[in-house]
Amino acid sequence: MLLLVVQFFMLSIFTDANPLDIACSNTSYAPNSPFESSLKLLLESIATNTSQGFYNLSIGDDPNRVFGRALCRGDVNRTVCQNCLENARHEILKNCKTAEEAIIWYELCQIQYSYRKFLVMVYAGQYAEKWNNQWKSVSNPARFIEVLTYLMTNLSIEASSDPAMFAVGEVKFPKRKTIYGLVQCTRDINSRDCNDCLTGALGDLKACCGAREAGIIVNENCNLRFQLSLFYNASTRIALTYPTSTDEKRSQRGLLHELAGPISVSLTQEGDLVSSEELPFVHLAVIKAATDGFSDSNKLGQGGFGTVYKGVLPNGKEVAVKRLSRKSWQGLEEFKNEIILIAKLQHRNLVRLVGCGIEGEEKLLIYELMPNRSLDCFIFDSERRLQLNWNTCYNIIGGISKGLLYLHEDSRLKIIHRDLKPSNVLLDKDMVAKISDFGMARIFCENQKTANTRRVVGTYGYMAPEYAMEGLFSVKSDVFSFGVIVLEIISGKRNSGFYLTGHAQTLLAYVWQLWKEGKEMEFVDPLLMKSSSIPQVVRCIHIGLLCVQEDPAVRPTMSNVVALLGSESIALSEPRQPPFPVGRTIVLAEQPSTKDPSVCHDLTVSTLSPR
Ligand SMILES: *[C@@H]1O[C@H](CO)[C@@H](O)[C@H](O)[C@H]1NC(C)=O
Ligand SMILES: *[C@@H]1O[C@H](CO)[C@@H](O)[C@H](O)[C@H]1NC(C)=O
Ligand SMILES: *[C@@H]1O[C@H](CO)[C@@H](O)[C@H](O)[C@H]1NC(C)=O
Ligand SMILES: *[C@@H]1O[C@H](CO)[C@@H](O)[C@H](O)[C@H]1NC(C)=O
Ligand SMILES: *[C@@H]1O[C@H](CO)[C@@H](O)[C@H](O)[C@H]1NC(C)=O
Ligand SMILES: *[C@@H]1O[C@H](CO)[C@@H](O)[C@H](O)[C@H]1NC(C)=O
Ligand SMILES: *[C@@H]1O[C@H](CO)[C@@H](O)[C@H](O)[C@H]1NC(C)=O
Repeated sequence: MLLLVVQFFMLSIFTDANPLDIACSNTSYAPNSPFESSLKLLLESIATNTSQGFYNLSIGDDPNRVFGRALCRGDVNRTVCQNCLENARHEILKNCKTAEEAIIWYELCQIQYSYRKFLVMVYAGQYAEKWNNQWKSVSNPARFIEVLTYLMTNLSIEASSDPAMFAVGEVKFPKRKTIYGLVQCTRDINSRDCNDCLTGALGDLKACCGAREAGIIVNENCNLRFQLSLFYNASTRIALTYPTSTDEKRSQRGLLHELAGPISVSLTQEGDLVSSEELPFVHLAVIKAATDGFSDSNKLGQGGFGTVYKGVLPNGKEVAVKRLSRKSWQGLEEFKNEIILIAKLQHRNLVRLVGCGIEGEEKLLIYELMPNRSLDCFIFDSERRLQLNWNTCYNIIGGISKGLLYLHEDSRLKIIHRDLKPSNVLLDKDMVAKISDFGMARIFCENQKTANTRRVVGTYGYMAPEYAMEGLFSVKSDVFSFGVIVLEIISGKRNSGFYLTGHAQTLLAYVWQLWKEGKEMEFVDPLLMKSSSIPQVVRCIHIGLLCVQEDPAVRPTMSNVVALLGSESIALSEPRQPPFPVGRTIVLAEQPSTKDPSVCHDLTVSTLSPR
């Protein structure tokens, strides 16, 4: 009997009725209200009108106005599109009963509705985990990911400038295999946002699925997929040939000797390059030689915006070189942002930029090398985690809090990081935490408290609710992310993709449940228990909970946090229930995946800068 049930479940996972993923808000509309009528009308209209493959509309007047958006995969015909949407509109109502906002993804179509205008979700990934987990690993992951990146980067750029915002293509992979890829954006965003969205999604695709035979990342504004078999039907597809590496090394070494010492440049606030003492500018040829021609064996990791290589400068200094993806608009913006910000900042808990290079399309950032890589490589890795003890964890928490305090209050500028997460916390040889990746950071004016953006960038799981839902960010949204990290360090579990049979569905819900019952020590990773000071651990859980409060005004500032960590005699206020996730994600998997989706498993992917 049980077997039958399981089998049935397996077979039915990806049939029409089973979407790749669903997210429903838990804010509700009243049943039989005018809002509900608008919504039903909208969903009906979507299913019948999406003849061009994309449809965007709103129905009704405030407060009963509903915004809707639907997208079919670019290679399906009208009939297939309509069938998919017809099914999707029933499923979204069934699964997200009375939710004011919801989104449903299928392989061939997606529908989203909301009571408010859509934000441009430049990047916030959704994994479609169950679908991704069904695929086998490939045998040559390092090479595979390189070829895959080559294909998907080309397709992303092509789709961004295509009126249909869709591209499919293929590239040969050694041993008679072919990688097929597909990328698509919703047509209500511009070309730049499309490329940004896809670039971010590609970082996540590599992290979740870069070493598998197939993978899919779905998002509100874009999605992308690849597979080792043909899965699309399009007459215009791009056929790529991966260039074989030419032997440039010798000439690079020769050039190196001809080049004089580095000249210095920095950027003005407007982003123009000017000569200065602050930041050495290093010639491309020097960087190429230092990284052995950006060789695979020197690769430390890769993310949405570029690949990171280990290098040795002519003076013997070991560095990490971030090579931003070519032609990426985001790349250029990020590059300037990072240079402007980080070149001016110096703190023990911030990673140091030691140089940069620009030549033609190459944009390079040179950092001090962090031999112990990033925090997520330790806390989410069952083996490396063994090397941590409570003291190290406590120092890391303290280090992050001080780095963040410096950004928020002590530096010459007031800076909101906006994408704080364990993969952006690097560890030096002594396991001192250093915050990195300022590509998304924003400078605030002295009296500015919050800012609003229609371009939400960040990572689900670490984004404060007011930021993820309304695009509002402030120092307090960074505090929220900090709180999540503290709780992840203590428990060794990720906030996103958290599963624990019979327990709450998110890490925040889980910690809250235990806290209420006075069982907070059950939250602590048993590996840390041996070495911990119990009052200190409880205090850290308490501080973590205060940081993830729903109301930003109730969250402490980073100076409060540093003070609270520094003195055990300062009383802590009682936390209230933290917000549970922005959208309720229905987990399609019956079983938790045992394989940690961490990007630190193989050499192929890692984490100096993924988003
Ligand atoms: C949303 O979910 C949280 C946690 O489950 C709950 O406390 C809150 O009341 C919910 N909000 C609404 C409007 O249902
Ligand atoms: C959409 O479909 C409805 C019928 O469901 C029709 O009345 C309406 O005119 C259509 N709208 C557009 C913009 O085609
Ligand atoms: C649409 O595509 C489906 C499946 O590929 C096919 O069966 C159907 O005949 C096509 N319909 C039209 C009108 O081309
Ligand atoms: C993608 O690849 C095709 C085929 O090689 C090429 O023509 C096109 O210029 C490439 N696009 C980009 C943006 O590199
Ligand atoms: C999408 O719909 C919204 C609401 O009706 C509208 O404001 C916006 O201009 C539309 N965008 C496009 C590209 O059609
Ligand atoms: C593939 O697309 C072509 C052109 O759009 C169509 O004629 C054909 O029926 C499609 N085949 C399948 C199997 O969907
Ligand atoms: C951190 O890196 C240093 C230098 O590479 C190494 O000696 C040390 O063992 C590492 N620490 C951990 C906990 O891995």
